[in-house]
Amino acid sequence: MVKHPKPLVEIVGTGRYVPDRVLTNADLEKMVETNDEWIVERTGIRERRIARDDEGAAQMGAEAARKAMEEAGVEPGEVDILIVSTATPDRWLPSTACDLQALLGAGNAMAFDICAACSGWLYGLTMAEGYLAAGRGEIALVVAAEKMSSITDWEDRATCVLFGDAAGAAVLKKATGDRGILSAHHKSDGNLADLLYRPGGGAAIPMSEEVLVDKGHLVKMSGREVFKNAVRSMADASGTALEKAGLTGDDIDLLIPHQANIRIIKATAKYAGIPMEKVYINVDRFGNTSSAAIPVALDEAKEAGIVGPGTVILTAAFGAGFTWSGMTIRL
Ligand code: UT7
Repeated sequence: MVKHPKPLVEIVGTGRYVPDRVLTNADLEKMVETNDEWIVERTGIRERRIARDDEGAAQMGAEAARKAMEEAGVEPGEVDILIVSTATPDRWLPSTACDLQALLGAGNAMAFDICAACSGWLYGLTMAEGYLAAGRGEIALVVAAEKMSSITDWEDRATCVLFGDAAGAAVLKKATGDRGILSAHHKSDGNLADLLYRPGGGAAIPMSEEVLVDKGHLVKMSGREVFKNAVRSMADASGTALEKAGLTGDDIDLLIPHQANIRIIKATAKYAGIPMEKVYINVDRFGNTSSAAIPVALDEAKEAGIVGPGTVILTAAFGAGFTWSGMTIRL
C-alpha cells in the first residue's frame, strides 16, 4: 500500500456540457487551406463542438454545474465558493462567475473568475481546497467554461483547427476519509506569455478599429514553440504530482491529460510511465477546450465506468501564461 498525504478535500460530484453543433475536419477544409489528414496526424483532432452565437460561458458552465450539484446532492444555495476558470469571459465586468451564480441561484457563494488558461480548472481546485481546509466554508463549486470559438481567428489555419467549446464542473467538500486530492503541483512562467496570447482588446491596447482590423483580439500562437514547452511542462506537472503523492505511474488507474494534441498526450504518458490503455483521450471528438478539457474528460470517464470511487487519477495541464499543473486524486 502506497503512503500518501491525507487528502483535505474530495470531489463529490462532476458534470459536463458540450454544445450540439459539430464542426468536422471536412467542414474546416471548406473554410481554410487544410485537410483532414494533416489535422489528424499533427493533432489527433477529428471534430470539435461550437457553441451557439447566443450561448455564453456562464450558460455552458451552468449546465455542467447543475449536473455536478445533482450528483453531489447539493442545492445551489449551499455553495460557499464558486470559482470559474475561463479564457473567454462573457464580458469584462462583472466576472462570469457572478453571471453563473445568478443563473444557478447560488446566492450564498462568493463568486469570482480565475484566468490561468488551460490549467485554470486545476488551479481552481487548489484554491477551493485551501478555502475549505481553512474552514471558511463547506461546499465549493469549481467550473471551467470556455467558448474558444469566440476568440478564434477562423481564417488562421494554424489555430482554427485546434479549439472547441465546452464546460465542466466539480463540487468539492472536506474529505472524510482517504478519498480526495492527494497532491498538486502548479507553476507559471510569464516570460513566455507572447507565444500564446491575445495582443489587443484589453487595458494595455484597448479595443479599437485598428485592433479589430488586425484581429488583435483573437488568439495568436507560435505552435512549434508552445508544443516544445507543453511537452516539457506536462512532464514536470505529472512527474512532480506523482512524486509529491509518493506514487508512481503503476499506482495510477487513469491519466487524464489536458487535451490539446495527441502527440503531447503520448509524450506525457510515456514520461509518467503510464501505458496508453490507461490514458483518457477525447481530443479527437472535442479538440482543445482549454480548461474545460480535464473536467469534461473526468466526467465522461466516470460515466463510462472507467473510474469510480477509490480509483486514483493523475491529471496534468499546460496553457497560456505559461501555466502548468499536475494533480493526483483518489476519486
Ligand atoms: O492548450 C495548450 C496550448 N496549445 C498547445 O499545446 C498546442 C501546441 N502546438 C501544437 O499542438 C502544434 O504545434 C500544432 C498542431 C499547432 C502545429 O503542429 P506542428 O507539427 O508544430 O506544425 P507547424 O506549426 O510546425 O507547421 C508545419 C507545417 C507548416 O508548413 P511549412 O512551413 O512546413 O510549409 C504549416 O504552415 O504545417 C502547416 N500547417 C498546416 N497545414 C495544413 C499549419 N497548420 C496547418 C493546417 N493544415 N491546419
